[in-house]
Amino acid sequence: MNKPLAGIKIIDFTHVQAGPACTQLLAWFGADVIKVERPGSGDVTRTQLRDIPNVDALYFTMLNSNKRSLTLDTKQPEGKAVLEKMIKESDVMVENFGPGALDRMGFTWERIQELNPKMILASVKGFSDGHEYEDLKVYENVAQCAGGAASTTGWWKGDQSGPLVSSAALGDTNTGMHLAIGILTAYIGRQQTGKGQKVAVAMQDAVLNLCRVKMRDQLRLDKMGFLEEYPQYPHESFSDVVPRGGNAGGGGQPGWVLKCKGWETDPNAYIYFTIQGQAWAPICDALGKPEWKTDPLYMTPKARQPHITDIFATIENWLKDKTKFEAVNILRKFDIPCSPVFSMKELLHDKSLRASGSIVEVPHKERGSYWTVGSPIKFSDLKPVITGSPLLGEHTDEVLAELGYNKEQIAAMHASKAV
Ligand code: COA
Repeated sequence: MNKPLAGIKIIDFTHVQAGPACTQLLAWFGADVIKVERPGSGDVTRTQLRDIPNVDALYFTMLNSNKRSLTLDTKQPEGKAVLEKMIKESDVMVENFGPGALDRMGFTWERIQELNPKMILASVKGFSDGHEYEDLKVYENVAQCAGGAASTTGWWKGDQSGPLVSSAALGDTNTGMHLAIGILTAYIGRQQTGKGQKVAVAMQDAVLNLCRVKMRDQLRLDKMGFLEEYPQYPHESFSDVVPRGGNAGGGGQPGWVLKCKGWETDPNAYIYFTIQGQAWAPICDALGKPEWKTDPLYMTPKARQPHITDIFATIENWLKDKTKFEAVNILRKFDIPCSPVFSMKELLHDKSLRASGSIVEVPHKERGSYWTVGSPIKFSDLKPVITGSPLLGEHTDEVLAELGYNKEQIAAMHASKAV
């Protein structure tokens, strides 16, 4: 099997989600990723949200497959010496410690360059270097609030109004994916210049990058004072900031989450329905409303917008005797962009996702096999084989031996609790 990143050595000094998601992706594609963890405890996610007592939690196993684990106390001199050796022999070091932690450990960017001028140091932080909040530690939902996602998600009126965070890891895994692109870019750059460099992604910036369309809307709002595609238009007033739009598409085509048969008891008996300008005629045909095609009140997006909620209510009426799957099976014949709202349970058992490798079963030494999310990136000449995550320190002796330590030296490091 072709593994394009084979031969790239990565020191994975990451924890929780943002960093591990990045290094896991690189490991899937062939990089040798060595996770450096604190002796005795390791990544905090090994014990967080456990479903089986004394067994690595899914939180850890689902973010650390295809890696090796080395325990190392990098605050002890022997541990520091091992890390220095690793830096000299590796291509990339990835870290997502709190601000300043790596410097306090003695591994400043200047020191790392002294040890290995070809090293690529990749970091995730909450806010970027020099930002007025650069000293803050940041977790997922904090980043969603800092990067604009929360202020533009949710309901704008009623009991449930207020900023809302998404369940998608826009702050964590998304930042890790940005960092992976940065690492590969720096790696290709190194092939041209022979020099390493520091790559950093702030979680705030990565969230903001995904909220680009909301920044677009802010600029349009500044100019026009209203946003035609938001549910507030034309009956409600706009303030000077992009409002939350509920389930509105936020793009060029209005859309909404609509109830299907069984919604009273099934929390996910819904579809997302979009009304795209060019799909209007097929929508009218699918709904059995051919007269809407020529009715001036319905013919154009502008004419429809003032009564768009009534149009969605009519579609919901059409949906009430159809399950979400039956509805989509009808609508797909008319080329209408739509999807069932899938529950996690449905996705976990989805035949297509299992066939494509987007959901995969992985063996684990202690928990047995478990299902996880596989690579969302598909290649014609690479099908990543997802292997189980390592036990804490499973590869400590192996990695130390590869670094040239002999049996006595390794035993001494165990005795001093440096590893
Ligand atoms: N040996 C010795 N010490 C180690 C070690 C090892 N192998 N691994 C970590 N440590 C030490 C660090 O040096 C640090 O020590 P110091 O603060 O005394 O200098 C200490 O462990 C704590 O590290 P820190 O990263 O600050 O952990 P935390 O639990 O306090 O904070 C986060 C967790 C995620 C909030 C923080 O790491 C952070 O803001 N990271 C950047 C943003 C980020 O990635 N957030 C999302 C995570 S999904």
